[in-house]
Amino acid sequence: MSTKVVKTVAEVKEYVNQWKKDGLSIGLVPTMGYLHEGHASLIKRAVAENDRVIVSDFVNPIQFGVGEDLETYPRDLQADTALCDSIGADIIFNPEPSEMYPEGFSTHVDVEGITEVLCGKTRPTHFRGVCTVVSKLFNISQADRAYFGQKDAQQLAVVRRFVRDLNFNIQIVGCPIIREEDGLAKSSRNTYLSPEEKKAALVLSRSLSMGRKMIEDGEKSAKAVRDAIVSSIEKEPLAKIDYVEIVGWDSLEDVDEISGPVLAAVAVYVGKTRLIDNFITE
Ligand code: PAF
Repeated sequence: MSTKVVKTVAEVKEYVNQWKKDGLSIGLVPTMGYLHEGHASLIKRAVAENDRVIVSDFVNPIQFGVGEDLETYPRDLQADTALCDSIGADIIFNPEPSEMYPEGFSTHVDVEGITEVLCGKTRPTHFRGVCTVVSKLFNISQADRAYFGQKDAQQLAVVRRFVRDLNFNIQIVGCPIIREEDGLAKSSRNTYLSPEEKKAALVLSRSLSMGRKMIEDGEKSAKAVRDAIVSSIEKEPLAKIDYVEIVGWDSLEDVDEISGPVLAAVAVYVGKTRLIDNFITE
């Protein structure tokens, strides 16, 4: 079967009801489209682990803040469909905003605490938008498993938290970051970078690798690792730090001493483009 593009909630539900009747398992890969190899790795895993796979392809307006890139966010449904088809996904769910947020829409999912740190500091409404759309997608798809990249590590932690708190009956599968050969983490927003900025953007993965090595070599002070990452990034003239943080994984609480698993996360502007990257220790 080739991948079907589905535009309405009702139509997705028709497929899902039939699959459930047939006793088939369902995997969901939530995306905002403009799919790259990072998304492809999630879809491949979903296809390997489930009988049927839904890829949502929806640039979710309510997770963008004022002045962010909602209007310019790249879109290419034709290329996305071809990729999903080549991997074997069953459905691309590509609704209009009015299908997801009809007149009178007034319910949101708000996770406290862990949405107020890291990206939440400068994007205060972002995770409310993410959690609301992701909850809707879980309910529409009735998926057994949903696949999220570790590139958005805070998003992964936040989704796990509301799934636990609200007793959603779904397994959240976190998948590794996919990188270009030169180390740059794959992102739809990399298309905004000029060739010069793309080169400068390597400072993120380079500085994080250096921080990871410090920890592997026995450094226990979160401040020492953070300071080293900051000064490495500051050497790149095109880079402007939004944050560099080392927090507990997956509590996202501050740590002084590195004793358990930690998330080292950075958000850096390269030119006008805000990029994120991270690593998680065992
Ligand atoms: O990670 C993303 O692309 C988005 O935040 C998601 C999970 C698809 C929700 O819109």
